[in-house]
Amino acid sequence: MTNGNAATGLRDLNAGIPEADQLKGAVSAVYEDVASWSRTGDFWHWGMHCPKLLEELTDLCPNFNAGVSDGFSEQLYVQTLRGLPHSANDFKTLNVLEVGCGMGEGLNFLARLVDPARAVGLDISAAAIRRANALLARGDRLTYVEGDAERLPFGDQEFDLVINVESSHNHPDVERFFPEVARVLEPGGHFSLIDVFDPRSSARFGRLQQEIADFEWIHERDVTGNVKSAIRRHMAPGSFCREEYTRKRMPLRARIIGGIGGAHYAGADFIGHRDALSRVLELARIRPGFVGEYESYRHHLAACLTVGGSPSQSAKE
Ligand SMILES: C[S@@+](CC[C@H](N)C(=O)[O-])C[C@H]1O[C@@H](n2cnc3c(N)ncnc32)[C@H](O)[C@@H]1O
Repeated sequence: MTNGNAATGLRDLNAGIPEADQLKGAVSAVYEDVASWSRTGDFWHWGMHCPKLLEELTDLCPNFNAGVSDGFSEQLYVQTLRGLPHSANDFKTLNVLEVGCGMGEGLNFLARLVDPARAVGLDISAAAIRRANALLARGDRLTYVEGDAERLPFGDQEFDLVINVESSHNHPDVERFFPEVARVLEPGGHFSLIDVFDPRSSARFGRLQQEIADFEWIHERDVTGNVKSAIRRHMAPGSFCREEYTRKRMPLRARIIGGIGGAHYAGADFIGHRDALSRVLELARIRPGFVGEYESYRHHLAACLTVGGSPSQSAKE
């Protein structure tokens, strides 16, 4: 972020602002831009393809995606509920928070599926939150608020479940995020995180799992293969994802960064796919090739410990 001449100006502009806040500003600016050309119904992740999960989801909610999506995003969101010791009926009394909810579609889907007492989505992108509130909010049952994962604007023990989907890799200070999650969770509540990991973030996550005493990690699933399978299907000619991409009204620069058929946004880098345009963009340093360093995509579930005690229940998939 601080290399080259352009960055000298940026450094001056950012003088006195802590580096973590500069990074958050950059992340928020990126997603403000993405929100400006995203279509209703868009999720901001790669999704996952798992025939077993799809079968369960279809049993629970037949036609859950008829004509409106390829179903991979909904599967990823349903994965956040795997390993929880709750039946669908239990959610009626549970308060759920999603940190890093993007345009709110994932939480909206879960809220329709399991109908929690209250669902709140939080994101650092004001534009994404405006869109979510305009299109998806439902009274007190489903609301969206702008905020920072590392300073959650909620009281202690307000939630029973906190989910975080493909977002924590953007947080400069996960060390502050995890204790914030523990603070807003009821003792015995759960923290469900799904994200992509590179070797560094994976090591850091492993260290935090050991160091942060607030959580007992009760479930883990490596969904790398499922995510890659969804990405290959996204990229196939004539796919739902490619058709949607052609319908988007987006600035030329966003199209260029997207690569051929939007392959970059569809997750091409994670499956090691490089088209000619991507190579040129990376060589010209117009688009970084950093996504190629990602090694795994995983779901982790933790139970929040009672003060000095143990979690109320735990479950394994
Ligand atoms: C890849 S998107 C995923 C969005 C959504 N969970 C989904 O799957 O569609 C990552 C999201 O995390 C949000 N985010 C990144 N850093 C954040 C922070 N410090 N606090 C809150 N949200 C943050 C971004 O604005 C973005 O909406």
